[in-house]
Amino acid sequence: MRTLLEERDRIRARAMAGGGAERQHRLGKRTARERLDLLLDNDSFVEIDLFRRHQEHGLSAPSQRPHTDGVVAGSGTIDGRRVFVYAQDFTVFGGSLGQAHAAKIHKVLDLALATGSPVIALNDSGGARIQEGVPALDGYGGIFRRQVAASGVIPQISVVLGPCAGGAAYSPALADFTFMVKGIGQMYLTGPDVVEAVSGERVTHAELGGAEVHGEHSGVAAFVREDEVTCLADVRYLVSLLPGNNLESPPAAPRRDDVHGERPRFAEIVPVEPNRPYDMRDVIAELVDDEDFLEVHEDWAGNVVCVLARIDGEVVGVVGNQPLVLAGVLNIPASQKAARFVRFCDAFNIPLVTLVDVPGFLPGKDQEHAGIIRHGAKLLYAYCEATVPRIQVIVRKAYGGAYIVMDSRSIGTDLSLAWPTNEIAVMGAEGAVNVLHRKQLAAAADPVRLRAELTGDYRSELMHPYYAAERGLVDDVIDPARTRAMVARGLAMLRDKRKPSPRRKHGNIPQ
Ligand code: COA
Repeated sequence: MRTLLEERDRIRARAMAGGGAERQHRLGKRTARERLDLLLDNDSFVEIDLFRRHQEHGLSAPSQRPHTDGVVAGSGTIDGRRVFVYAQDFTVFGGSLGQAHAAKIHKVLDLALATGSPVIALNDSGGARIQEGVPALDGYGGIFRRQVAASGVIPQISVVLGPCAGGAAYSPALADFTFMVKGIGQMYLTGPDVVEAVSGERVTHAELGGAEVHGEHSGVAAFVREDEVTCLADVRYLVSLLPGNNLESPPAAPRRDDVHGERPRFAEIVPVEPNRPYDMRDVIAELVDDEDFLEVHEDWAGNVVCVLARIDGEVVGVVGNQPLVLAGVLNIPASQKAARFVRFCDAFNIPLVTLVDVPGFLPGKDQEHAGIIRHGAKLLYAYCEATVPRIQVIVRKAYGGAYIVMDSRSIGTDLSLAWPTNEIAVMGAEGAVNVLHRKQLAAAADPVRLRAELTGDYRSELMHPYYAAERGLVDDVIDPARTRAMVARGLAMLRDKRKPSPRRKHGNIPQ
């Protein structure tokens, strides 16, 4: 027995070592196992398929057959809650994906789905294992099919900590949230060599698909972090805000004593003048517990802010227009960002709080030609189909189509709260007067005075929140200082909301 155990320990130690830590450290990266240590609770990892290795022969066989086949797979806990994980090991065949490697990932995805647990992928791979050919591509297909089947059932998080090229990039793309680390994470469908061969353009890996590119321009990365330690700590933070699956509620923290108190800062943060900028994140900080929130897509489509946070201990998703960026208009990226966030929250029983201060959709040829109509429709669609508790707070202005889209009563918000300072209308006073009274103004002896009179009338008759409240489009006009308290009460009122959807195969969200 002792000899058998010694042999087992020897094989095990070799498998655990992979290709050695040294090369990975030289590249400024941690090993797969070091990453799992940072991600998971101490001593919670249960490994599966440690001894697995490829069974290829002949031409398709890589010269060696290391155990693990370049991916460390299994399950562990985060704050005591079960998650499934796999970490690609770049020190073994460049973390490339062959049949055995893929089969291990398939097993992890199957177990995550069967147990209703989030799955976290740590990507660091040269892509499809070239020697194995098409079976490697088949392995990717099996991952994608499982990810799509699990979409909306278990949360899926992808962390890009090295190369993630070609077809491999579709795995993070199918996940709910993708993290990237600056300097080491890279994602692209075709690498710099192919780009140069096809177009003659020379680009570096980082210019083509580094973390900054995907965090600021493409919107592929929801979170970009400076280093692996911060990144994996924030993956833990994200998991702490999510349910294990779509049948559970997100984990609640203890109820709060401070939730019913007055918050005069709300009115100090938001200027009454409709065009003066302020940071909507300051409003969010005042609204949520401990001023603590996790912002999704911080550096992309900044004109809308999406965060996960807690109010009175309950997890909520907050969507807010951001007057600091493009005056808070809705444009194509903002619609895409908010739509996906709303759909995620809806899929995982996370109530939505929408903070509205929106001048409208961004006008212009570029936006129209690029399809703002269909992208804006995505956000509309996402809200219309959301069955979680929904609260709308209008904090300053809400105009036109953008008002409708930002979770108005007409598309199904459960509770709409306004501040006395609100301007809610089809459009701003100046624009409305120009359209309605153009001829009158052109003929007027004193057009400046007449314009002032007409805009004043429009404001006092049509734009105030009571006009909407009298018609049931706003439920209450509240003191801004009571915003946190009223939202918390609203969430408590809606906690048991159930709204079955009609039977159908699936809807057809605008593309
Ligand atoms: N299949 C098989 N082995 C691969 C591989 C792949 N797709 N990608 C990398 N490797 C191996 C390399 O041959 C090398 O092996 P060695 O240590 O025995 O020499 C090892 O992994 C490390 O790769 P290397 O190229 O030295 O690392 P790098 O940091 O300089 O570059 C990449 C990383 C990902 C940019 C580079 O390996 C690459 O371009 N790989 C191919 C990407 C691709 O086109 N994949 C197929 C499309 S899905």
